[in-house]
Amino acid sequence: MPGIVVVGAQWGDEGKGKATDQLGDRVDYCVRYSGGNNAGHTLVVNGERYALHLLPSGILNPACVPVIGNGVVVDLDVLFSEIEGLASRGVDASHLLVSANAHIITSYHQVIDKVTERFLGKAKIGTTGRGVGPAYSDKVNRIGIRIQDLFDESILRQKVEASLDQKNHLLLKVYNRRALDPVQVTEHLLSHAERIRPHVADVSRVLNDALDADKVVLFEGAQAHHLDVDHGTYPYVTSSNPIAAGACVGAGVGPTRINRTVGIAKAYTTRVGEGPMPTELLGWEGEKLRTDGAEFGTTTGRKRRCGWFDALVVESATKANAFTDIFLTKLDILTGWDKIPVCVGYDVNGTRYDTMPISQSDFHHATPIYEELDGWTEDISSCRTFSDLPKNTQAYVQRLEELCGTRISGIGVGPSREQSITIHDLL
Ligand code: GDP
Ligand code: IMO
Ligand code: MG
Repeated sequence: MPGIVVVGAQWGDEGKGKATDQLGDRVDYCVRYSGGNNAGHTLVVNGERYALHLLPSGILNPACVPVIGNGVVVDLDVLFSEIEGLASRGVDASHLLVSANAHIITSYHQVIDKVTERFLGKAKIGTTGRGVGPAYSDKVNRIGIRIQDLFDESILRQKVEASLDQKNHLLLKVYNRRALDPVQVTEHLLSHAERIRPHVADVSRVLNDALDADKVVLFEGAQAHHLDVDHGTYPYVTSSNPIAAGACVGAGVGPTRINRTVGIAKAYTTRVGEGPMPTELLGWEGEKLRTDGAEFGTTTGRKRRCGWFDALVVESATKANAFTDIFLTKLDILTGWDKIPVCVGYDVNGTRYDTMPISQSDFHHATPIYEELDGWTEDISSCRTFSDLPKNTQAYVQRLEELCGTRISGIGVGPSREQSITIHDLL
């Protein structure tokens, strides 16, 4: 005991970083298992704001070993600049462990991410442009570059050449862009080899040994259930498996090692990039949620699309991830509304749905059916127990709990570490 996974229950930016940090110094290992630096996890600790993209949030707890699993795609330039940024603020990353099997995001993945998006035009996904999708494509195509390849120069040269051979044809002939020089790319990758070497580990073995020794291992999801390439709103998804089961694949632990799966859900809904979002509010209400919640992307600075809480979205994530608990974030942002609508069903061309439709086309045409709950005006940001909350706020939480199908064990009432309410202890 215990392996615990933290998973976004909506479309990302639910506050996974803060929820992870919440478990604090009781966590021995904090593991990123999927995604790359498309993630942006913000933590506010002792009044200081930290935005992490690649490093797990546990890095801010000195007693916790930060780990990057095989399922992550690593941009080494970003990794080292993040490590340097933290070092300048007194945060040590010398104990970071990185899987030898993690794939590397190279400069050509970033170029391809951007040109493909431009080429797609109106059909674009709205990616973060960090090269994440192309790096995963290469992994699945078996032409990816892994961390361990940095330590065999001749293999690395061959792999970069083979991978770029095809891509340069595409860049030149289809996208009308400059070809990339495999020698330059290889030299740049090699320049990181000695720096990453001391961090490279057999992550699967380390974590399994830690679990055998009763250590607490927290798997910190990036992105979210509905951005999962298999379970999300495809094709408007990321290219990996952020769901709880992804922790097993992306870190090398068996499913029996996971004791808790915690869904992180925002008290309303946000989404960045393209794709369906039935409760999106395009008028002043969406603007108000965006302003009150400071809903601008941590990674790209893009405006997040905002809307009311969609219980069908969170309920389907609860089912597929077997959430044992939900941590409800940003409840403080809903203060001041007279009535708060919550989506409890969809109307799709005259048919009512009480769960998310299986067809993506139906989901694109879903109109929310709302239930209106009473709002509250009291400032809740200094509440520290459930009973401190106004009655209407308690009723809002209790109704979401019923609709989502699992208990709400924690509530966020502000961005800082201490602005939380624990209802059930997660450890
Ligand atoms: P993540 O990607 O899931 O880690 O979430 P982000 O960090 O991208 O976005 C969540 C934002 O909300 C961050 O700026 C957090 O500091 C902030 N935040 C998290 N929990 C709360 C909360 O309970 N209340 C408020 N007001 N802000 C929160
Ligand atoms: P965190 O961990 C919100 C979205 C992008 C785009 C889609 C594909 O901070 O919650 P990609 O660059 O991954 O190929 O983009 O996924 N996306 C996120 N949205 N939060 C994230 O991470 C995201 N990571 C990717 O906006 O719609
Ligand atoms: Mg984020």
